[in-house]
Amino acid sequence: MAVPLSVYLFQKKEEMEWLDDELILLLNEIATATKEIAGKVRKAGLLGVLGSAGKVNVQGEEVQKLDELANEILIESLKNCGKACQITSEEVEDCLIVSEKGYAVAFDPLDGSSNIDVNVSIGTIFSIQKDSIMKPGREQVAAGYVIYGPSTMLVMSLGRGVVAFTLDPESGNYLLSHPEVKMPEKGKIYSINEANRNKWTNEGLRRFVDSLKEEKYTLRYVGSMVADVHRTLFKGGIFIYPADKKNTSGKLRLLYEANPMAFLIEQAGGMASTGEKPILEVVPKELHQRVPVILGSKWEVEKCLEFIGQE
Ligand code: AHG
Ligand code: MN
Ligand code: MN
Ligand code: MN
Repeated sequence: MAVPLSVYLFQKKEEMEWLDDELILLLNEIATATKEIAGKVRKAGLLGVLGSAGKVNVQGEEVQKLDELANEILIESLKNCGKACQITSEEVEDCLIVSEKGYAVAFDPLDGSSNIDVNVSIGTIFSIQKDSIMKPGREQVAAGYVIYGPSTMLVMSLGRGVVAFTLDPESGNYLLSHPEVKMPEKGKIYSINEANRNKWTNEGLRRFVDSLKEEKYTLRYVGSMVADVHRTLFKGGIFIYPADKKNTSGKLRLLYEANPMAFLIEQAGGMASTGEKPILEVVPKELHQRVPVILGSKWEVEKCLEFIGQE
């Protein structure tokens, strides 16, 4: 039988000295919370948790009921397990400080909110740093996401490659399904919201996208970062959410979207850049700061950076 997540983490203790009991407990707690979220997501229409919660969050977005529910489940779990010293959520304006030392967790409780009501894949993203989340993403001790898609998968990295688990509905366990996730060097898919094409602030980006069309790439854009990154991780290619005239630093948030995803992509052999520097080198200044995101296979990201540099 495939290895359950809890056994996998226990086994990894041997080869990863930084993987202490606190971090293992924290990871198991986050995984358990996402199982509860998966249960709500899969019955959303029956539980009356579709639609808007009737409030606007710190991002200026209309909060969906599932955003709020997923947020409550994660915060409750992290507080109860007592292993998180700081809790940062997309849905909470301030960082919840529990103690000075320990593991700082940042998460996007429900990513892809615009897809909730139309039953398209959504997810949860998490990032874990030692003591404080306000450090460059390069220092993450663990990061990952859960995608609530045709199957529920937990994809994560502890700093030694990328591994993926699939939730087994019979046992209720996350079972190891992909022991080593490696990105293809080059893909055939690009993923960007081309509706914003005329707003992109960098002319070179338009030329880059046109060059991919010349090379017969296909476009896939779900509108849930978790789904678009998951496809890019497994099939290769490139995902971009650039700066534009409306979102001058891009739309995606550094601490709980760009950093965890960049960590995974690099650990799987890909690249992740803001267009000016590797995402993992950005020094965070504000909790909810946004960065442009260009991530995927090395070949496409390097090609994109060439075009952007040429402006
Ligand atoms: P969230 O639902 O957590 O606020 O994130 C939504 C993000 C991300 O999931 C996705 O890549 C992006 O919004 C899509 O934005 P557009 O609809 O502007 O393309
Ligand atoms: Mn949101
Ligand atoms: Mn998100
Ligand atoms: Mn969200």
